[in-house]
Amino acid sequence: MSIVKINVLTVPAEQREVLEKRFASRAGSVENSDGFEWFELLRPVEGTDQYLVYTRWRDEAAFQAWMEGPMKSAHQGGGDRPKPAASGSEVWSFEVVQQAAPKGA
Ligand code: HEM
Repeated sequence: MSIVKINVLTVPAEQREVLEKRFASRAGSVENSDGFEWFELLRPVEGTDQYLVYTRWRDEAAFQAWMEGPMKSAHQGGGDRPKPAASGSEVWSFEVVQQAAPKGA
């Protein structure tokens, strides 16, 4: 089954809009990576000030290949890189052990 890699971004309240705008104009290149399955930017509603960048991949090798190549250009932002909106980040790794989708979907 797939693996999940979540980049956990700590974002101060006043930087939320900046972060979301940056993702709104993201490179859009991850969609073309071999083994890429899903991406979601998750905005915290309560209990945390951490945004989750949820990504799901066919396997660890597919994620590593993206990290070593396209990920770098997808994170450059072009030209002068603005001050990061996030004050911290860490990556969480998971294996999918069960999953379900609505019937007929
Ligand atoms: C130092 C750590 C990181 C920070 C602060 C960070 C922050 C960001 C930001 C602000 C963007 C929006 C585009 C931009 O402005 O560059 C972005 C894009 C993205 N990030 Fe990260 N990121 C980091 C590492 C990672 C890691 C390890 C992953 C994988 C789990 C990840 C997954 C993604 C994805 C999938 C996109 C969209 C790329 C695309 O559209 O092709 N990021 N990241």
